[in-house]
Order: sequence, then structure tokens, then C-alpha cells
Amino acid sequence: MQTKRRIVIVGAGGRLGAALAREYADDYDVVGFNHAQLDLGQPEQMRQRLAAIEFDVLINTAAQTNVDRCETEREEAFALNAEAPRVLAEICRAKGARFIHISTDYVFDGEKREPYTEEDEARPISVYGASKREGERLALAANDRALIVRVSWVFGPDRPSFIDWAMKQAREHEEVKAISDKVATPTYTLDLAQLLKPLFAEANATGLLHLANGGECSWQEYAQWALDCCRAEGIPMKARDVGATRLEEMKSFIAKRPVCSVLGTEKYRGLTGVTPRSWRDAVAEYVRESVR
Ligand SMILES: NC(=O)c1ccc[n+]([C@@H]2O[C@H](COP(=O)([O-])OP(=O)(O)OC[C@H]3O[C@@H](n4cnc5c(N)ncnc54)[C@H](OP(=O)(O)O)[C@@H]3O)[C@@H](O)[C@H]2O)c1
Repeated sequence: MQTKRRIVIVGAGGRLGAALAREYADDYDVVGFNHAQLDLGQPEQMRQRLAAIEFDVLINTAAQTNVDRCETEREEAFALNAEAPRVLAEICRAKGARFIHISTDYVFDGEKREPYTEEDEARPISVYGASKREGERLALAANDRALIVRVSWVFGPDRPSFIDWAMKQAREHEEVKAISDKVATPTYTLDLAQLLKPLFAEANATGLLHLANGGECSWQEYAQWALDCCRAEGIPMKARDVGATRLEEMKSFIAKRPVCSVLGTEKYRGLTGVTPRSWRDAVAEYVRESVR
């Protein structure tokens, strides 16, 4: 019998990491590390714990993902989002294991009005974006076989995100508003789990890669579609329509956010022959599954 490929998931307690660990459990030998089990802020601990096991692929989904916190905790942001991926990349190189590191659309400044390609220059406008960009750079410098997968607006069942906030607001209040002048693409964790699979053994998949569901939308359109899907599933809602607010009205935001950060997925399609399904189909399935 062929032995299963062993995959280490770092960040297995997070939104994406938990989804990957669960979705891969049948087909792979999964070893998950959550924050308490592996601390990105402790390089020696990472070296020791990962040296103790053999694995074929390591996917790093862990990060300091609180964009506003990064503005005030710059040192921590760079330690977790830049230095830690470098250490993980080195560990994987030494072991001859595949290193897949998850990055973000926030490496871009958002000024381009078309989907960003992997060739576009990253020009972060926040500490979070700068720390993630530095993580990409350091990981690739340490391991030229590393694969950096940039994703956007991640949602899924394992940890609430914007879409869950919007649905909760609509259940509890008659008025819901969301930002109408910021555009990107929602990406479903369960889709990412499937989309990443063909990359495990694809030798040509190195360097930067953009991956998201298809299409694009504002937060307002995203929330409106989620509410439309809820109505189609018979979920009682107090609000029917999502009103518009503007990014500049979000006084609680500390960090600057890119206004347009749609990720083009042509390179992914070229490597795998697979086209990610539209974000609307993914959201519809997410809502359907949530009422089962
Ligand atoms: N969410 C999005 O919309 C989005 C968009 C673009 C890119 N991304 C990227 O996608 C990846 C996955 O994000 P996500 O949505 O799954 O975020 P998430 O739910 O916040 O997951 C991040 C995980 O990292 C863990 N973590 C934080 N500090 C750590 C440390 N010092 N040591 C070890 N683990 C630590 C967190 O654990 P605790 O919660 O226990 O601290 C959490 O489990 C990240 O690289 C993120 O930058 C996310």
C-alpha cells in the first residue's frame, strides 16, 4: 500500500488552517500545529519541534492577521509575518520538503484598476502589508523552491469573518451598511483546500502565485449577496438591503487598506488547468451549508 503524503499545517487553529487540516484528513497524513503548539515568535521552538518529524509539505497559514494591531505592534508584525516564514522556509529546504506560505492581497497599494498579476510590483501601504511582503521576500531568499500563495478576503466555517458579521447584523438590525468603494474577491477556505492540492507536487509551482475565487466585488456587494442567499434559504432577516458606506468613513480603521486588490489567477490556471469558481457560487454554498 502506498503511504500517504504527510502535510504539516502551521496555524491549524485559524480560519484557513483549520479548514485545510480537516479537508486533508482523509487523503493525507495531516499534522496540525495551532498557536499553543508552535509559536511563530519562537524560532528555536519551531526548529526543534519540526526537526522531530518527517513531512513532505508544510503549509504556513499562521500570521499576525490583525491589520490594525500591526500598525502599533510593528516589531511583532515583522517577527511573525516576516522572520517566521524565513525560518520555516529554511527548515523545509533542509528537509527537502515543499514549503507553501500563505500571503495577502494587502501587499499591493490598491491603485491598479485591473486584477493584479504576480509580476506587478508590491507596494504595501500598511505595516501588515509590509510585514507580509517582507515574509514573501525572506522565504523565497531562504528557499528558492518555496511557493507563496497570495489570497484575499478569506471566509469559511472555522472562524467568523466579514460575511458572518454582515449576516448577524441583518438578523438583528433593520439597517446594515458596508463599504462600497473597496474592491477585491472573497475566497472560500474549502475551495482553497481543493485548489491548493494540485500544487503539492507541481515542480513548476514556485515563487509567487495568486489564488482567489472568481470575479470581484465591494464589501457592500459581498454582504448583499450573502443576505440574498440567506433569504433564498429561508433564514429570517430583519434587513433586506445593504446600504453603502465609504472607506474614509471607517474611523475605527487604523491601517490604510488598498481600495482595489483583485488578484488575477491566470498563472494558477496555466499551472493546473483549473479555474476557481465564482465568489458568488462559493458564498451561496457557504450559506447553504451553514443552515444544514
Ligand atoms: N482573513 C483574510 O481575509 C485574509 C486575506 C488575505 C490573506 N490572508 C492570509 O491568510 C492566512 C490565513 O488567515 P486566516 O484568515 O486563517 O487568519 P486567522 O484565522 O487569524 O489565522 C491565523 C492563525 O495564526 C495564529 N497565530 C497568530 N500568532 C501566532 C503565533 N505567534 N504563533 C503561531 N500562530 C499564531 C492564530 O492563532 P490565535 O488566533 O490562537 O492567535 C490563528 O490561528 C494568513 O497568512 C493571512 O495573512 C487572510
